[in-house]
Amino acid sequence: MNAISRRDLLTAAALTGGAILLGNSATAQTLPVAPIKFEVKPLPFNPSKLKGISEKLIVSHHDKNYAGAVKRLGAIQEKIAQLPADAAPFQMGSLKRESLIAMNSMILHEYYFDNLGGDGKLGGTIKDVLNRQFGSIEAWEHDFKLTGQSLSGGSGWVILAYSPRDKRLFNVWSSDHQVALAAGQPLLVMDMYEHAYQMDYGADANSYIGAFFSNIDWEQVNTRAKSLDFA
Ligand SMILES: [Fe+2]
Repeated sequence: MNAISRRDLLTAAALTGGAILLGNSATAQTLPVAPIKFEVKPLPFNPSKLKGISEKLIVSHHDKNYAGAVKRLGAIQEKIAQLPADAAPFQMGSLKRESLIAMNSMILHEYYFDNLGGDGKLGGTIKDVLNRQFGSIEAWEHDFKLTGQSLSGGSGWVILAYSPRDKRLFNVWSSDHQVALAAGQPLLVMDMYEHAYQMDYGADANSYIGAFFSNIDWEQVNTRAKSLDFA
């Protein structure tokens, strides 16, 4: 790189307030990564039509908790983009941790809302797979619900996840937004954060779990499972 082009780059960096990395390969790269825009998705069903979950609760859950995570994620991305080139690693670490929490909250809430609004009637391929891999539908349901009950009074998710390693389904306990089955594909997601039921049921998480089951959209779950290869 000749002296003029190097000076031009340094001047550009000073003018933009950004950082420019001058490498040995005579290339220039701006820092940092540009922030990504995330959109809030609307509820995929009529919020007044759920059985045993009030419109007030589900709209609050969507508009406050879910949409809040999406907005928070956007703000964190902006903060990461504004980090100076000489930022300490712990500054990036804190933001990346918060970014992961907000991003997983956004994603899991979208899975959750998308697998609600149905009639709760289990059928299709997923019924056969649950029967075969768990021994019976009752055994799967007991395992899933008991996992949910283990999170009541606290926070977390229960995820029926497909593991490509074993081509099997697992009911996964997820104590917060950072815990997940590695490479697991969510097929059915149940929110066990208190904000998902307290307004309607207080501390009665069991009744909420029952209401959740009567609103599962199994067609959506079957669609998610469509291209998967089951053992
Ligand atoms: Fe939630």
